[in-house]
Amino acid sequence: MQRMAGFSEMRQLICGFSVSAATSAIAELGVADLLSAGPRSVAELAQASGADLSVLRRVMRFLASEGVFEQHEGDVFALNERSQWLKADIPGSLRPRASFVGSALNWTAWSGFLDSVRTGRSALQAASGRTLFDVVKSDPGAAATFNRFMADQTATSVEAILSAISFADVRAFVDVGGGRGALVAGVLRANASLRGTLFDLPEVIVSAGSLLDQAGVADRCRMVGGDFFEAVPSDGDLYALKFVLHDWPDAECIRILQNCARAMAADGRVLVIEHVVPEHGGSHFARFMDMNMLALTAGGRERTQAEFAQLFAAAGLKLRRAFPTPIDIVALECVSV
Ligand SMILES: C[S@@+](CC[C@H](N)C(=O)[O-])C[C@H]1O[C@@H](n2cnc3c(N)ncnc32)[C@H](O)[C@@H]1O
Repeated sequence: MQRMAGFSEMRQLICGFSVSAATSAIAELGVADLLSAGPRSVAELAQASGADLSVLRRVMRFLASEGVFEQHEGDVFALNERSQWLKADIPGSLRPRASFVGSALNWTAWSGFLDSVRTGRSALQAASGRTLFDVVKSDPGAAATFNRFMADQTATSVEAILSAISFADVRAFVDVGGGRGALVAGVLRANASLRGTLFDLPEVIVSAGSLLDQAGVADRCRMVGGDFFEAVPSDGDLYALKFVLHDWPDAECIRILQNCARAMAADGRVLVIEHVVPEHGGSHFARFMDMNMLALTAGGRERTQAEFAQLFAAAGLKLRRAFPTPIDIVALECVSV
């Protein structure tokens, strides 16, 4: 038979969404945690997770065939190097991401992708007529899913950020668009003399205190609601923008950066923490994130370091240093020109 070069590989790529969907469902059911202590039969997993036995067997066999679990004789399954990252309680857990990927909000957004490519609108807007932040404002269920994902994935990335950057010489840390405060909580917990400000939209700040309480830093962190397109709290000496600029087009990014530059102390710095797209070609998570921004945000995108440097220059800032972290995100430190 004539070899159909590339056919199987292309078909596999087209159907990759099924691995996403199945992994999300399994993550949501907590199967990886149920396998923490060692291999278990699918019958035990179904009973402990409340899943349908026959469907769970098919899904686990499928995921094992895709290299997500190990399958032993008698439909017994075990964690492997990949699926261990679906456990909830390990630093760097990928479970929050898997849960978000399986959410209705995410699938709705990707369903508008073709329209987005045709029209330049965000895929979520094309599919639902609403932006991500419209949905988050008006739909408490979607807001909870999104804010939990942001907080959980930030909590798991704090260790990586702390391992790359020293906060020892910082006096007042301002987390701009800090969501529920996972970053500021982690930074304050690790630096006992630091004071912090968590700044986000008023409707996010209203429900943001618990992470600061859990970290035991609430007495050193004020929470301020507002709009970063208007102004941000003043007098900090380090302003973090983590996964904020990638939500917005260039003009909006420049406004946010200008407001940070205007508000910060004379010796202040802005720390932009993002996935940075490499200049060279080849597979990189930042390129997936760029598609994700296309799906979810109105005009957001991932950028190369050179593109960030242009935004900084337009806001009266200059890039001083770039700190790579162990998890493929980069912290770009800027100061006033
Ligand atoms: C992608 S999330 C990142 C959250 C957090 N920095 C993190 O990394 O987990 C973007 C954040 O920007 C906030 N945000 C959006 N528009 C805003 C505005 N106009 N003013 C202040 N915060 C805003 C959102 O509420 C959200 O918490």
